[in-house]
Amino acid sequence: MSANLPAAVVVLAAGEGTRMKSKTPKVLHDICGRSLVGHVVAASRELDPQHLVVVVGHESERVTAHLTAGDTPVRTAFQAEQNGTGHAVRIGLEALDGVVDGTVVVVCGDTPLLSGATLTALVSAHSTDGNAVTVLSAEVPDSTGYGRIVRDPADGSVTEIVEHKDATDAQRAIREINSGVFAFDGRLLTDALGKVRTDNSQGEEYLTDVLSILREAGHRVGASVAGDHREILGINNRVQLAQARALLNERLLERAMTAGVTVMDPASTLIDATVTFERDAIVHPGTQLLGTTHLAEDSEVGPNSRLKDTTVHPGARVDNTVADGAEIGPGATVGPYAYLRPGTRLGTRSKAGAYVEMKNAVIGEGSKVPHLSYVGDATIGDHTNIGAASVFVNYDGEKKHHTTIGSHCRTGSDNMFVAPITLGDGVYTAAGSVITKDVPAGSLAVARGQQRNIEGWVARKRPGSAAAQAAQAATKKSDGES
Ligand code: UD1
Ligand code: CA
Repeated sequence: MSANLPAAVVVLAAGEGTRMKSKTPKVLHDICGRSLVGHVVAASRELDPQHLVVVVGHESERVTAHLTAGDTPVRTAFQAEQNGTGHAVRIGLEALDGVVDGTVVVVCGDTPLLSGATLTALVSAHSTDGNAVTVLSAEVPDSTGYGRIVRDPADGSVTEIVEHKDATDAQRAIREINSGVFAFDGRLLTDALGKVRTDNSQGEEYLTDVLSILREAGHRVGASVAGDHREILGINNRVQLAQARALLNERLLERAMTAGVTVMDPASTLIDATVTFERDAIVHPGTQLLGTTHLAEDSEVGPNSRLKDTTVHPGARVDNTVADGAEIGPGATVGPYAYLRPGTRLGTRSKAGAYVEMKNAVIGEGSKVPHLSYVGDATIGDHTNIGAASVFVNYDGEKKHHTTIGSHCRTGSDNMFVAPITLGDGVYTAAGSVITKDVPAGSLAVARGQQRNIEGWVARKRPGSAAAQAAQAATKKSDGES
């Protein structure tokens, strides 16, 4: 196993990707929650290489910033001019202080579906066969644009790779193509790169020429055919971007289902590569699970929900909800039509009901905000019930303020809690109150205008109206009854 660990992986990502027609460099486009180059780096890391370097060029500052952000920054090498894939690998190897002993794997930054398993199989075939170079090839339905694998008609061995633009008609008919992924003997690669010329249709140093150079020098050149040609799909335009996203999404959902998750409708479910699950989680149609979202055992999400960086604890139920950076406690219920923003933490068996928005709010065990409310910058104790249509008035126009509500409270409907404010344990509030002062434990707070009834007003001020007639009839009826 450890004999197979490559000395280095070089990721080529200096090209512009003009066909994306984008102000964003191609390799920074996203599928399933990761950039294209991010997927390639993740797959490369599964090889556990001693060195990993990404060759950047076009918009190198942006690409480098992206690659060096986060917990595990990636080393980059700068290719000022894009003089071809051979030139790019040369730059990458120079960044690793020249000659690399051992296996060097080269991958392109625009093949996000490439799996760590396929890379591992390539490296292992390369070392088992004792090759100087092994190319990952694939049989594709349409080989237009790809480099063709040319084999010796006598023994089937690989003789060279010919680029589409340099190929004869007979060579263009070949369906076996170069995926752009290789395993090389590092020393032989370094020597051969020094011999690559630029006498081709694009005037570039082709990495693919290394194969014929090594073969002519008497070294073993091999090809390992990928089991699934879709894995090496290279992204050049937005159509391929969507195709790759669909394929990866399908693969991720299949992995989840295999691990015991029920996905009601894979076709309408979108999932990021970084989402995690436990068994018996259920995902209903029209659901997007993004970022570091985690669905624990027996949790249920959807339909029509978008969860980003949200943890759904065991047995929680989330319906028609948008959540970002929220934590939904065991057995809690959310929605339908809830919006949970960053910093929302719902306790065990708590509830954020219909048309409820929460932000930076900690809701205690068994506490409920059932209907039509905004809870922002708040701490609510355990087993408290917040009346319908309440607003935590957290913003004074300049600053945000905090509201604290104790345990076992019953607040009336249509309350405004004007922060900063604290309500003690066991507090009741009257419906329609605007609470502006702290409420001590066990008190009833009433903060609204007193009601007055002006009798006979309708008969005097709206004589002859339907209301007046109805009132008169009602008065007669009750007089008759008494
Ligand atoms: C390349 C291969 C082709 C293969 C195809 C697979 C060569 C000469 N051709 O063709 O055989 O079938 O990939 O997708 O290798 N890059 C740099 N610096 C450069 C040039 C390219 O970093 O100077 C990077 C690009 O950003 C890209 C990768 O190398 O990630 C491949 O380059 P690209 O121009 O897309 O090569 P293809 O023409 O697709
Ligand atoms: Ca390409």
